[in-house]
Amino acid sequence: MSKIVIVQGSLNPESKTAVVVAQTEMELKSRNIDFETLDLRALDLQFCDGRNLADYNEDMQRAYRLLESADGFIFGMPVYCWSMSGVVKNLIDITAGALENKIAGILCNAGGNRSFMSSGDLINVLYYESGVMTVHPIVYTSYDDFADGLLVAEKPRAKIPTMIDALMKQLAG
Ligand SMILES: Cc1cc2nc3c(=O)[nH]c(=O)nc-3n(C[C@H](O)[C@H](O)[C@H](O)COP(=O)(O)O)c2cc1C
Repeated sequence: MSKIVIVQGSLNPESKTAVVVAQTEMELKSRNIDFETLDLRALDLQFCDGRNLADYNEDMQRAYRLLESADGFIFGMPVYCWSMSGVVKNLIDITAGALENKIAGILCNAGGNRSFMSSGDLINVLYYESGVMTVHPIVYTSYDDFADGLLVAEKPRAKIPTMIDALMKQLAG
């Protein structure tokens, strides 16, 4: 059975990306899909400086090994400055070797409703560095899609199962 690792890429304690990730986890659970979530808030993060993996701390090495154990990924990316956050890019800088030639879905969470193409940077980085192909649709959310700490908008809620369908189809080959 294929294993998915979800990356929750926001460090905000009130993260909306984490809300979308939680919704995605519920959908994976309802389908009995094997998954683990790597919430970057739980890690002692280090910056990439080009050292060998063995010279990073245990959390970064554990993150690498978890990503390596996956067949596919779901990246939850907060949009910062029309791109992925630096934290997500930094994780990929350190762990790109663990992602090689796998498949990924994307949860792209922004403040405004016109930052959809920010996920293009993540698609490029994943593809050009690690040969990771990403599936469509991308689940895009913005401030207006949330109420009382929940993802309430119908459109992104409906896209989560569709994105998972596309991911599992690619993994099934
Ligand atoms: C440094 C910074 C840059 C941001 N840049 C954008 C942006 O370019 N476009 C946008 O729509 N929202 C932008 N936002 C808003 C975030 O995408 C929004 O707060 C989102 O909820 C962040 O995800 P999180 O709640 O999971 O941390 C930015 C926020 C920060 C802190």
